[in-house]
Amino acid sequence: MNNTVILSGAKNLLGVNIDHIATLRQARREEEPNPVKGAKVVEEAGANSIVCHLREDRRHIQDKDLFLLKERLEIPLNLEMAANEEIIKIALKVQPYQVTLVPEKRKELTTEGGLDVRGNFQHLKETIARFKKNGILVSLFVDPEISQIKASQEVSSQFVELHTGSYANEKGEERKKELKKIKEMTELAISLGLRVNAGHGLNYKNVIPIAQVPGIEELNIGYSIIGRAIFVGLEKAVKEMLKLIKEEIP
Ligand code: PXP
Repeated sequence: MNNTVILSGAKNLLGVNIDHIATLRQARREEEPNPVKGAKVVEEAGANSIVCHLREDRRHIQDKDLFLLKERLEIPLNLEMAANEEIIKIALKVQPYQVTLVPEKRKELTTEGGLDVRGNFQHLKETIARFKKNGILVSLFVDPEISQIKASQEVSSQFVELHTGSYANEKGEERKKELKKIKEMTELAISLGLRVNAGHGLNYKNVIPIAQVPGIEELNIGYSIIGRAIFVGLEKAVKEMLKLIKEEIP
């Protein structure tokens, strides 16, 4: 995809994370299921972007997948990655539409918390400048906390992706509190000139209140969609999620 196409200001977009198609492939180190083929099915089903995470341990997505995704996709590629030099160099070669910088621990099952932007201020500022110089949009995956959002603006990120994991894990009143936090932090981020995405732990049962938060542009969802695809097929799993986030919003 040509990176000059800018999707600015649109709302209720769906980015589908295809990592777990590759997780299944890597279980046997075979060619199938192929995440690039999967990404094309997701694109055809109407999703707005493809998200994947090149992890340092290469447990799912491999370097060659990225180059093929960049070559074959018509919709934007959003590359999740740690701000580590090896991965930064690969990302600068691939030239995705967007990078989302995430914290990464080798032993975690999935990205557990948001980035500590304050604690890694100088390194993130320099890394963001390198991507921006190359025409790549930058997003920081952060917990919905005032200090991290202010720091994201200070390091000149264009986007924040608000971590919805706590919202997804809580129930009842606690979930309502998390939702309120996400609403308030979306407002704060926008008031500071940042654009806002959200994701992690979202599924067919909990996504609507997040999709209804004014100002969030794109939801990045992986595990629940790929899991449902086993039962209903990938195209239908994507379409069902699109229907929830685009059509059931008043
Ligand atoms: N956004 C970010 C930054 C992530 O790290 C992940 C997990 O890879 C997701 C969204 C998608 O989370 P889930 O797979 O729980 O939908």
